[in-house]
Amino acid sequence: MPDISRRDLLVAGLAISGTTLFARSAWGAAAARMVEEAQAGSKEMAAAVAPREQLLFDFGWKFTFGNGWDPAKDLGFGFDQGDFAKTGDFKFAKAGFDDSKWRALNLPHDWAVELPFVHDDQQMSHGYKPLGRRYPDTSVGWYRREFDVPSSDEGRRVSVEFDGAFRDVILFVNGCFVGRNNNGYAPFRFDITDFLAIGARNYIVARVDASFGDGWFYEGAGIYRHVWLTKTDALHLGRWESTVRSELNGEAATLSLGTVVMNEGKHPENAKVSWKVMDAAGKIVATAEAPAQPIAADEAASFNASATLTTAALWSVEEPNLYSAVVTVESDGKTRDAERVNFGIRTAVFDAEKGFALNGKPMKIQGTCNHQDHAGVGAALPDRLQWYRVGVLRAMGCNSMRTSHNMPTPELVEACDRLGMTMMCETRQMSSNPEGLAQLETMIKRYRNSPSIIFWSVGNEEFLLQDEMAEQGAKIAATMVERCHELDPTRMVSAAVNGNNRKGVSLAFDIVGFNYNLKFPEAYHKDFPKRAIYGSETASAISTRGVYATDPLRNVLSAYDTNQPGWGETAEEWWTFYGTREWEAGGYAWTGFDYRGEPTPYGWPSINSQFGISDLCGFPKDTYYYYKAWWRKEPSLHLFPHWNFEGKEGEEIPVWVHSNLEQVELFVNGQSLGSQKVPRLGHVQWKVKYVAGSIEARGSSGGKVALTEKRETTGPAVAIRLTADRNEINADGEDVAILTVEALDKDGRPVPTANNHLGFKVEGAGALIGVGNGDPNCQESDKEPRRSLFNGLAQVIVQANKMPGEIHIEASKEGWDGPELTPAKIVIRTRQVELRPAVPVIRKRPGA
Ligand code: GAL
Repeated sequence: MPDISRRDLLVAGLAISGTTLFARSAWGAAAARMVEEAQAGSKEMAAAVAPREQLLFDFGWKFTFGNGWDPAKDLGFGFDQGDFAKTGDFKFAKAGFDDSKWRALNLPHDWAVELPFVHDDQQMSHGYKPLGRRYPDTSVGWYRREFDVPSSDEGRRVSVEFDGAFRDVILFVNGCFVGRNNNGYAPFRFDITDFLAIGARNYIVARVDASFGDGWFYEGAGIYRHVWLTKTDALHLGRWESTVRSELNGEAATLSLGTVVMNEGKHPENAKVSWKVMDAAGKIVATAEAPAQPIAADEAASFNASATLTTAALWSVEEPNLYSAVVTVESDGKTRDAERVNFGIRTAVFDAEKGFALNGKPMKIQGTCNHQDHAGVGAALPDRLQWYRVGVLRAMGCNSMRTSHNMPTPELVEACDRLGMTMMCETRQMSSNPEGLAQLETMIKRYRNSPSIIFWSVGNEEFLLQDEMAEQGAKIAATMVERCHELDPTRMVSAAVNGNNRKGVSLAFDIVGFNYNLKFPEAYHKDFPKRAIYGSETASAISTRGVYATDPLRNVLSAYDTNQPGWGETAEEWWTFYGTREWEAGGYAWTGFDYRGEPTPYGWPSINSQFGISDLCGFPKDTYYYYKAWWRKEPSLHLFPHWNFEGKEGEEIPVWVHSNLEQVELFVNGQSLGSQKVPRLGHVQWKVKYVAGSIEARGSSGGKVALTEKRETTGPAVAIRLTADRNEINADGEDVAILTVEALDKDGRPVPTANNHLGFKVEGAGALIGVGNGDPNCQESDKEPRRSLFNGLAQVIVQANKMPGEIHIEASKEGWDGPELTPAKIVIRTRQVELRPAVPVIRKRPGA
């Protein structure tokens, strides 16, 4: 059994290790180790089971821009009528095509984050990136890869599987058109068996067109999630057809096991399916078998069985216990296919009177909505960053994530499964058209065994379907809800509704979500006391990290919890409402992290949103500690602002403390300004005439000082400090170290106002893949090895290559202006690990 309090503290350490607000302690490293262990387990549990092969298809691609308008600049694609006239004719996907001038890269890849910003208000949602039909030169990308198919693959089924790409993909293999995908978030796959040359070199090309968008936020561009090459026997398990459902009976659990077997071979088969259920340590705890069934060629059959666990280790936020079931198909005494399904045993119930309960225990949903991009890398996050982000949220006490407004990447769901974070999993297109239903179906089949997902969301703020087209809305939503129930009878279905929820789509939902508008839920609860309610989206509070005075001329907002747009609420406002009503299941604040696009309230030159509780790097803003105080149980205290207000001597500065202790006393240069009782779910504040020196908050409960925090006026920056979340990472071509960059004064104190320009030199066994600083107005490149600090902080993300060794990173002052700074160096070791099975990269001799 994991030690829960240790896990929580460790995860907390992970998140706070990146801030200047806390002394870096051993917790940071220990936290990172724990997450790493969980992540290593995840890799193992995600690995394919023989004889199936699931090969990572991320390494060794070539890339070039095409064109959304001019075929001459688009590899000649669409030059004349006959592109699709004859199968096998696409030369760019055949031998002899010269891609030597194309750029070499690995996936995941987001080309939008590499583009410059454009001052075009139509591009605001995309974070002012030149994408869309008006930017044909930068909206189409071509990816090309050569790969060998061994003779031993004869007779197997081979599929290429994309976890998600932005956006419209046309896929070609060996000159043949294979298929299309027209949405930016759902995974898609093509069986390419018939097009392959067995025992020979093969060519795959994807044309990715980001001219159309799905949303009103930054969406990236390109193959921004993993790609896989999957090889199975012709007799194989259906994709995402295996389910494990559990029913608790006291300590015991009955498991209902189900799957579908497909026979794509030429002959009838007599197939038998068996299950081996294992606990997290890999010990077999139950087995089951379904009787053999004949399956004719090109037919499929369902198999079901059940198993009992006498004592089930439940999945919960505190103890995210997981199990796995290895499902095996046999025929003629031979194992033909197998896969591992990870699952957890838990109950998740929404009640109209009592809110939400996990495993029978009330759990207020302390949620955040999140988009998927991060500093430096855009939408193409290395897996590790998913874990990092879940860690940041968890350390704040967030226990649920809403994947607004799209299906998440598998690694995020895994991180939530393993770190104990529940999820509201949302699809992109609210429609019962074939595309909408296909996206929904894919999401549910892909994730229905994940215990972290507590309910499905079929959409967000479909104003027309809520109101003007309410009649159609009710029908569309009903069809979607019905489909969810068919595919997953264990979960409730909802959507995020901005309105009173009394007509249209809302009529179809099992549970009712309110976006904003605190006046609606109370009235609704009175009129419909039998319907469970939660806040599907709240707050939209806006603030800039490390800024303590709103300044519309600089496009910044003060970090006090005082700013929200007309439709939103401050953190304190919404949580005082949702946190105090038993019938409210809780809610999801907009948003956990800043994201690109939606630069409310200013627009250009702001290029990202300011809604985040943390900035785009995951550095906490001050409101983070409001949530931490009221969402977590252990004593906490956070004093702000910093105390560097040179030039404001004698002016009144608001001083706030977020704490869950009973009383807080404030001292200015050692003099008490008095003690205040902390209101429940509130904060305390003073007005202090600025004088350099220090402020200190002492928080007490039961008359005893429990926590103190001090802010000191620092001197100017004289040196740089680099710290990493981990000093050793995997030499697997995927793992990353997340570095925090700070500037220190002569006494070694982080300078909270430092905005120095810095440059980074990265050498050895890895490379810099992105930089950021959390400044919503910073238009410096995400990819160049330089960045200015923003209010004392920047982030550098460094990725290991596959050769074990050392990565040397040096940060130094860049440019001629500004004061001298002593450079900082750090070494990240990269250790040899077993690599994930991957499609071998074809190395060509130069000139070949
Ligand atoms: C909501 C919407 C979100 C985001 C937010 C900003 O209405 O659902 O996607 O735009 O507003 O406040």
